[in-house]
Amino acid sequence: MTAPAPNGVPDADARAAPDAVSCAGLVHAFGETTAVDGLDLAVRDGDVFGLLGPNGAGKTTALRCITTLLPVPRGRSVLFGYDATRERMAVRRLLGYVPQQLSADSGLTGRENVTLFARVFDVSRRERAARVAQALDAVGLTDAADRLAKTYSGGMVRRLELAQALVSAPRLLILDEPTIGLDPIARTSVREHINAVRAATGMTVLVTTHYMDEADQYCDRGALMHRGRVRALGTPRELRTGLAERRGNTGDGEPPTLEDVFRDVADSGLDDRSGDFSDVRSTRRTASRVG
Ligand SMILES: Nc1ncnc2c1ncn2[C@@H]1O[C@H](COP(=O)(O)OP(=O)(O)OP(=O)(O)O)[C@@H](O)[C@H]1O
Ligand SMILES: [Mg+2]
Repeated sequence: MTAPAPNGVPDADARAAPDAVSCAGLVHAFGETTAVDGLDLAVRDGDVFGLLGPNGAGKTTALRCITTLLPVPRGRSVLFGYDATRERMAVRRLLGYVPQQLSADSGLTGRENVTLFARVFDVSRRERAARVAQALDAVGLTDAADRLAKTYSGGMVRRLELAQALVSAPRLLILDEPTIGLDPIARTSVREHINAVRAATGMTVLVTTHYMDEADQYCDRGALMHRGRVRALGTPRELRTGLAERRGNTGDGEPPTLEDVFRDVADSGLDDRSGDFSDVRSTRRTASRVG
């Protein structure tokens, strides 16, 4: 909320603190396939936000629009007040991105891979070597920095990609399935490295994951996406209690987990244009009042 100052002019601090990400009616189609279909999303500055949902929900496509790698033909995506279509370079300077597909070059060393990103993201030549070393250190790869990436394990490659994304000191880190295929120790290690950087810099994190336990523990807020749109939004606790309410809050059995919320959204059989979760909820409330 913008608090009015005594002179009626909006408070400057409030204006200076827009959401990290704000998408409104975002649409992206690949031919006949509308992968993102009117996405509304707000990620607060400083939060860890989980974008969750089944395979094919449109998460990766949405992230690629937000990073400006894909165009935004309809709707808007705005990062820290900068428009993804009109101010692409400004948006790119603010973010680091770890894509779902592996992106490190196996024929280069860890240090060379991160240096490449530092150059692409315009880290000044004077600072470059120190910033590369810092990013490698932040993900625990200092000792392996001068080995070829093809000699790294899967977990090390994922941490290398994290270093690539961190080297430009982004305000927003976007991670698409950062821990997929990693063992539980490596997953914890990736999370801890990200947490350490957040504690030091206040960086915002937007992350997709299929591990609902991880999302429950790690995310401040999350959105369940299905067929290109957000169907439920809130803190993990709000998402869980929302499902308990929809189920009638009988108190029988175990309280729902985030995985139950995921299944509920994924199995909801919403036909594409028939509205979202909140509609389902209000319809049920109306039905119970009427019935
Ligand atoms: N480059 C592309 N060309 C054509 N169709 C695509 C392309 N990328 C994605 N799609 C389609 O868009 C839809 C959404 O895909 P997307 O990769 O965004 O989903 P996702 O939520 O990231 O899924 P996953 O959890 O499996 O990563 C799918 O139907 C997919 O087949
Ligand atoms: Mg994906």
